[in-house]
Amino acid sequence: MILALQIGGGFIVIAALLQAGAGMITQFAGALRKRHMDQQRLAFFKKQTDILIKRAETDRQRNVLTWSGKRKFRVVRRQLENKLGDICSFYLEPHDGGSLPPFLPGQFLTFELNIPDQPRPVVRCYSLSGSPEDRDFYRISVRRLGPPPSAEPGVPPGLSSNFFHNNVKEGDVIDVMAPNGKFHLDVHSDRPVALIGGGVGLTPVLSMLKWLADTNSHREAWFFYAVRNGEDIACIDEIREIISNNSNFHLVVLYSDPADDDVAAKNCDCAGYLSIDVMKDYLKTSNFEFYICGPPPMMNAVTTSLKEWGVPEEDIRFEAFGPASVKKAAPAAAAESSASGGEAPTVSFARSNKSVPWSEAAETLLDLAEECGVQIASGCRAGNCGTCATAVKEGKVTYVTPPTSQPAKGTALVCIACPDGDIVLDA
Ligand SMILES: Cc1cc2nc3c(=O)[nH]c(=O)nc-3n(C[C@H](O)[C@H](O)[C@H](O)COP(=O)(O)OP(=O)(O)OC[C@H]3O[C@@H](n4cnc5c(N)ncnc54)[C@H](O)[C@@H]3O)c2cc1C
Ligand code: FES
Repeated sequence: MILALQIGGGFIVIAALLQAGAGMITQFAGALRKRHMDQQRLAFFKKQTDILIKRAETDRQRNVLTWSGKRKFRVVRRQLENKLGDICSFYLEPHDGGSLPPFLPGQFLTFELNIPDQPRPVVRCYSLSGSPEDRDFYRISVRRLGPPPSAEPGVPPGLSSNFFHNNVKEGDVIDVMAPNGKFHLDVHSDRPVALIGGGVGLTPVLSMLKWLADTNSHREAWFFYAVRNGEDIACIDEIREIISNNSNFHLVVLYSDPADDDVAAKNCDCAGYLSIDVMKDYLKTSNFEFYICGPPPMMNAVTTSLKEWGVPEEDIRFEAFGPASVKKAAPAAAAESSASGGEAPTVSFARSNKSVPWSEAAETLLDLAEECGVQIASGCRAGNCGTCATAVKEGKVTYVTPPTSQPAKGTALVCIACPDGDIVLDA
């Protein structure tokens, strides 16, 4: 009996010890788990802090290293980028050997080219097609432009693009203005992105893709690349390599004019033009930031259908390589006033001694000036480069689209401006 009691008591003690032990183990495991979570939180916090510090340093360098006016760059390399041979990349290093400001992915450079037989330097913009993380050189990729298919005989081919292709050699030095432009990736966002490039409109979105890859971004990224066919497509090996190294990136290639076996051979994913239906097949949801650059018909179709799909306007960002119809869709105030029966304002070009009534058809003061034979230098024709800034002697302008940066006081960017009443320009 005593033995039984002793054994029973022993079991109770053992059970109590086991319970206490289990409690301690649970506590210990809990403490370990907490420590692990604290470490994870700390690592996450450290990573976020590192990112913020790096961003702040990049912003600082962008401000400190930028330059105003022209800076000389040496062409250190040329590279054809497609089978057709009409897209060529140019790698540029600063001639002064100084550091380069980091640019925002999607921005462009403005060039002032001294082309023989041209009365004045020719100003043109080219998007940076390299990664902002490449800090030793800039890269642009230029498509050679022939006369438009519908042009009368004798119409000259594109001035600047042909000059680049035919004349700009390795070792040459050219004048370049600092990176600029509002069409750039929101580098502070963590949201999924859809990057859409049509033809040579690939360049700014390629720079965005490269930046996402070079900064090890975890953002979901879809790259839609629409071209005519395998002869036309540029930089495709570079793009495929980036996509294959990043499981969160996806590529959709569209050929509008494919060869018979292109789809079967997986040279492209779809035949035809880029449409919202194609995009919906891949994206499933509209919760993306969309960046679009390409020919005006593609941009018009895509931006309109994205809005219809419910994508908020602020999530649809686009750039046209010129005075595209997308940009001109906004109504001009002066055009509205004359359409509503008011008298058309008078536009005077003081130095050329010409005065004409504002014409709705002109769309911008730059177009009107050119129609009247008044010479005003222009570059981007999209309010980006500042080349067309013209002094306003009397009156004021209304902007068709907001300028990228405010022009100097008393001047207007006439490529995107209409008169707001009678106006006198110093041109
Ligand atoms: C922000 C921005 C970024 C850009 N990025 C790039 C880029 O990355 N890559 C790129 O390749 N381009 C880019 N562009 C476009 C580039 O700036 C030039 O507009 C393009 O290279 C054409 O310039 P060009 O001097 O060769 O042609 P232009 O001399 O301006 O001629 C344009 C077209 O008009 C035709 N033309 C000339 N005269 C007449 C006439 N009398 N009648 C009818 N037609 C005529 C020409 O044959 C040609 O087809 C960008 C533009 C902008 C605004
Ligand atoms: S031409 Fe570039 S801002 Fe007007």
